Amino acid sequence: MKPLTLVTGSNGKTGSRILSRLIQSEYPVRLGSRIANPTFDWEKPQTWDAVLKGVNQVYISFQPDLAIPSALESIKLFVNRCKAHQVNRLVLLSGRGEPECVESERVVQNSGLEWTILRSSWFNQNFSEGMFLDQILDGKVLFPIITVKEPFVDIDDLADLAFAALVTNKHVNKLYELTGSELWDFKKAFQLIADETHQEIPIEEVPLSTYLSALKDFGLPKETLDFIEYLFITVFDGRNESILKDMELALGRKTKNFKSYVEETAKTGIWKLREKIT
Ligand SMILES: NC(=O)c1ccc[n+]([C@@H]2O[C@H](COP(=O)([O-])OP(=O)(O)OC[C@H]3O[C@@H](n4cnc5c(N)ncnc54)[C@H](OP(=O)(O)O)[C@@H]3O)[C@@H](O)[C@H]2O)c1
Repeated sequence: MKPLTLVTGSNGKTGSRILSRLIQSEYPVRLGSRIANPTFDWEKPQTWDAVLKGVNQVYISFQPDLAIPSALESIKLFVNRCKAHQVNRLVLLSGRGEPECVESERVVQNSGLEWTILRSSWFNQNFSEGMFLDQILDGKVLFPIITVKEPFVDIDDLADLAFAALVTNKHVNKLYELTGSELWDFKKAFQLIADETHQEIPIEEVPLSTYLSALKDFGLPKETLDFIEYLFITVFDGRNESILKDMELALGRKTKNFKSYVEETAKTGIWKLREKIT
């Protein structure tokens, strides 16, 4: 009997990819989404029991981010519900260089269940499916002055590893610190997207305070602004400016680099600038 997997964030960047890998290999799945039936909402613990019924293993992708202060309590509560439902394996998506995430990782590691921790660097796909896409489409990127480099991870690689962690025993009780194979600074990363799509996309580097007030004008809530400020001040201090072999060793192959990701993604047309309304 193949195990039943609950994929939280099943419509999200990583969850959707893990879900499709499971479905393609004919594993039974349960969707962890606010629009699924039964519904799953991290903010409504009363929704969790119905979704966990009969589930053998869970991919945990917490929302909005594992580093926010309320995440730890939610993860503790969620892991307890998993145990009550006799779930036997947890695969947790975590963030690299974020001490707050380590607390939640420990809850999973000390749960008594089989576990795998995927402690990931920033995703390539933040540029095409996440927080940076809108600015690119608007044809003008505003970004805080930051010289630190990031070893972006491609989430197709991450999803391959998460899938293997769910359907084989090779990754049980392992913590992987996931990086890509190259360090990129953000300005060069945006510039590569402009070059590859043959579009003029000016990149304006501004002080963090200017960047945050621009985001506030876009209507971002205070909690999100505080979190972005935390990321840029605390996490981008150089602590993650290194490349590790965990991902390649765990996958047994090379990972996708940022340039290949940009070349492939540019071909999909996702970065075609929006028409300017005059
Ligand atoms: N972005 C990065 O570079 C990065 C790097 C390392 C780690 N992480 C971690 O990645 C996690 C995010 O994962 P991801 O990027 O795969 O997800 P994502 O793409 O941000 O997931 C978005 C999905 O989350 C669901 N969602 C939103 N609020 C929810 C709620 N209250 N309850 C249940 N589902 C909710 C939504 O689906 P529905 O509308 O269907 O509910 C949405 O489709 C975070 O925990 C973060 O710490 C991110």
